[in-house]
Amino acid sequence: MNTFFSAHNVDKLKEIVDEALALKAAPYAYQSLGKNKTLGLIFLNPSLRTRMSTQKAAANLGMNVMVMNMDKDGWALETRDGVVMDGTTVEHIREAAAVMGEYCNVLGIRSFPKLKDRAEDYSEDLFNKFVKFCGKPVISLESATRHPLQSLTDLITITELWQGKERQKPKVVLTWAPHVKPLPQAVPNSFAEWMCKAQAQGLLDFTITHPEGYELAEEFTQGANITVNQQEAFQDADFIYVKNWSSYNEYGQILIGGEGWMPDEEKLKVSNNAKVMHCLPVRRDLELASAVLDGPNSVVIQEAGNRVWAAQVVLKRILETQ
Ligand code: CP
Repeated sequence: MNTFFSAHNVDKLKEIVDEALALKAAPYAYQSLGKNKTLGLIFLNPSLRTRMSTQKAAANLGMNVMVMNMDKDGWALETRDGVVMDGTTVEHIREAAAVMGEYCNVLGIRSFPKLKDRAEDYSEDLFNKFVKFCGKPVISLESATRHPLQSLTDLITITELWQGKERQKPKVVLTWAPHVKPLPQAVPNSFAEWMCKAQAQGLLDFTITHPEGYELAEEFTQGANITVNQQEAFQDADFIYVKNWSSYNEYGQILIGGEGWMPDEEKLKVSNNAKVMHCLPVRRDLELASAVLDGPNSVVIQEAGNRVWAAQVVLKRILETQ
């Protein structure tokens, strides 16, 4: 593995999930793999889980880690080519990424979309330029359109919780939930992309439910059962993944029609005692009812804990190809 950007960078999902769960059972088995290797984590946006779990994963592999908060501590970054830099930007990504590549063996970068121009966000211009100019393997720590470490974590968590069940495949549902701010589509895009691939590989059955107008880009939802009826989607569900996103078609907008979509105990009654997932951070009693979050079916903390093993298996695979 070189770049880790999407589900397309992994062939057999069961193999990487099993490898991650083996690392969870023996976190320090590969401590010499990262000796004298440096991981640079570059953040253009805030993070709790991605930052801490990836640092821990690297430490488990014996790597040194440097964290750069570009949004607060770095020079204002220019990403456009052919512009006279006589405005607020101070350093071009061409030099900044290349310099980071001098210091690090592997790099990770987080950069959210601006949610103003769909074509610009979906071109993944910043991530692609960073890969090109740093010259080192790059892990996405969440880009404009995807959050692959989160989605791999989610598949690890579903697999872990489904172990030993009589029925071969769980029913997994992604549901839209309300929010007060327009949020990126990165997490739901990515979750859908990984779950569609897992469905195609016979690992689970996948349904998406959202109010009309919140359709995700079709490239992420191939093969998914999609419905605007949330209760129909929740029927017999084994896992319910809760997430808000802004509209893709009316790009970056919050539309009317999402009222009443917050999952609560009553709405979950039709499920198969579903485990409830969320990538966090979550807004209590806006996106998801507190009673569910604090109840026995919530697996959000286990899910966040598994971020370590997703990051560690990706770093391990990259180090093994160095
Ligand atoms: N789920 C997730 O990526 O959390 P952070 O934004 O805190 O890293």
